[in-house]
Amino acid sequence: MKYITLNNGIQMPMLGYGVYQIPNSQTKECVLEALKVGYRLIDTAQYYGNERGVGDAIKASGIPRKEIFITTKLKSNHNVERLIEQSLADLQTDYIDLLLIHWVMGDDLATWRWMENAVRSGKVRAIGLSNFYGTDYDHIVKNAEILPAINQIEHHILRQNHSFHKTLDKTGTILEAWAPFGEGKAGILQNPTIRTIANKYHKTPAQVILRLYLQSGVVAIPKSSHKSRMAENFDIFDFSLTVQDMITLKNLNQEKDLFGWY
Ligand SMILES: NC(=O)c1ccc[n+]([C@@H]2O[C@H](COP(=O)([O-])OP(=O)(O)OC[C@H]3O[C@@H](n4cnc5c(N)ncnc54)[C@H](OP(=O)(O)O)[C@@H]3O)[C@@H](O)[C@H]2O)c1
Repeated sequence: MKYITLNNGIQMPMLGYGVYQIPNSQTKECVLEALKVGYRLIDTAQYYGNERGVGDAIKASGIPRKEIFITTKLKSNHNVERLIEQSLADLQTDYIDLLLIHWVMGDDLATWRWMENAVRSGKVRAIGLSNFYGTDYDHIVKNAEILPAINQIEHHILRQNHSFHKTLDKTGTILEAWAPFGEGKAGILQNPTIRTIANKYHKTPAQVILRLYLQSGVVAIPKSSHKSRMAENFDIFDFSLTVQDMITLKNLNQEKDLFGWY
């Protein structure tokens, strides 16, 4: 595993396992499989309704809590203190490694203040944003006492956020890619250019895409319900893309929004 150092010195795995759209009843089993494969970063959210399953899996895995990095996300800007307590209870843990505001909700600075308090009280180790762009992102950065460690945004081969990534770099915020395969939309995993590069390294398109992020300083959290794909997505630490191949992959960018959300 490769780790990245966040702006507060904390080490975060650069490759994780996302559990969006996995029903709570199946989450324990999936996360246990992912932990067996070797994932140590689990990305959940209050909105997904499966924090309990994540907590059950971590408990059942027998892996020391400190070896696992848990991210969750706030689903509302009301009763933030209570929402954090609920996540701690569902995840069955004393602390959350990374807490994000899931999307722009309005009055986000007030939410941020609660999150800063949670860091000071030891309930959360790092705080960040998700789906914050432009003035919404700037507003938090300008007024934060603790700067955002992460901004988790839509990021795949057709939307590589080249310009925004530079902005995030300047403020020391790490870009984290949600939907790193664009959920398979727009034929991303069948793209002939990516296939050609993948064949050269005896790797799959999914592995090449994840390797591009790793070499670009982007944290990625692919989701799969299948053990074979969890393993495939994790098997990216034994090869390196050339600078030329990275340029070719970066040139596939169209800054294309595939979800119509942000
Ligand atoms: N912050 C946010 O607003 C936000 C929004 C969306 C997602 N997220 C986070 O990001 C994570 C990942 O995003 P996502 O789940 O939307 O999309 P994704 O990871 O881009 O794609 C997941 C889809 O790709 C398939 N897949 C996975 N590995 C594959 C492989 N090696 N070959 C072929 N197909 C493969 C999966 O199918 P199978 O499961 O059938 O294998 C699933 O249908 C989420 O789980 C969540 O944690 C955050």
